[in-house]
Amino acid sequence: MAHAGKFWDRIAKRYARSPVADEAAYRHKLQVTQDYLEPEMELLEIGCGTGSTAITHAPFVHHIRAVDISEKMLAFARDKASAANVRNVRFEQAAIDEIELPDAGYDVVLALSILHLVEDRDAVIARLHQALRPGGFFISSTACLGDKMGFFKFIAPLGHALGLLPVLRVFTSQDLQDSLTRAGFEINYRWQTAPGKALFIVAGKAGS
Ligand SMILES: C[S@@+](CC[C@H](N)C(=O)[O-])C[C@H]1O[C@@H](n2cnc3c(N)ncnc32)[C@H](O)[C@@H]1O
Repeated sequence: MAHAGKFWDRIAKRYARSPVADEAAYRHKLQVTQDYLEPEMELLEIGCGTGSTAITHAPFVHHIRAVDISEKMLAFARDKASAANVRNVRFEQAAIDEIELPDAGYDVVLALSILHLVEDRDAVIARLHQALRPGGFFISSTACLGDKMGFFKFIAPLGHALGLLPVLRVFTSQDLQDSLTRAGFEINYRWQTAPGKALFIVAGKAGS
C-alpha cells in the first residue's frame, strides 16, 4: 500500500492543477448525489483526492469523513477546505483496503474514480456495504477499462512495476455491477455519458 501512496503523492500537484475532464458530467454527478443527501447525514468519501467533491457536498450533510491514501492530495484538500471555511469535513490519510470502519456508521458512501484502483474491489465493496446503514446509498463513478480498453490488462501490471501507473484493475461495467449485487446492493441509478466512459452508479442497501 505504501507504494500506492507514493505514486499519488508524486502526481498530487499536477492532479490538483488539472481541470475536471468533463465539467458537465461532473456537475450531473454532483446533482444526482445531492438528491440523496440530507442535513443530518454522515457521509464517507473514499479516495477523496484534493477534496473538491467533499467540499461541495459539505453544506448538505452533517459531517463528511474524507479518506485518501496520499498525504499530498490531502494537503491540497485541507487548504481548499480552510479557504472555503468548510468545517464539517475531516480529511484522513488511510488506505481504504485497511481502514477501520464502523458497522452501519454511514448514510452515504462516495467512491469517485477509485474502485478500479484497489487490489480487491469485492472486498472493498463488501466492507462498504457493512459500513452503510440499512437504507443507505453507495454512490460510485468508475473507469471500467474492460469495456473498451481490455488491452490495459497487459499494460497495467508492467506500468505499475515500473512505477508509471498506480494499481489499476481492468474490469467491465457488468463485472462492477455483479460485484455490487454480490455484496447485497440494489442498483438504483446507472449513468454514463457514452459507452466506455466512467460508469456512475447509485446503489442502495436494503432496509430502512
Ligand atoms: C483518480 S484519483 C480520484 C480523486 C477524486 N475522487 C476525484 O474524483 O477527483 C484517485 C484517488 O484515490 C486515492 N487512492 C488510490 N488508492 C487508494 C487506496 N487504496 N485507498 C485510499 N485512497 C486511494 C489516490 O491518492 C487519489 O487521490
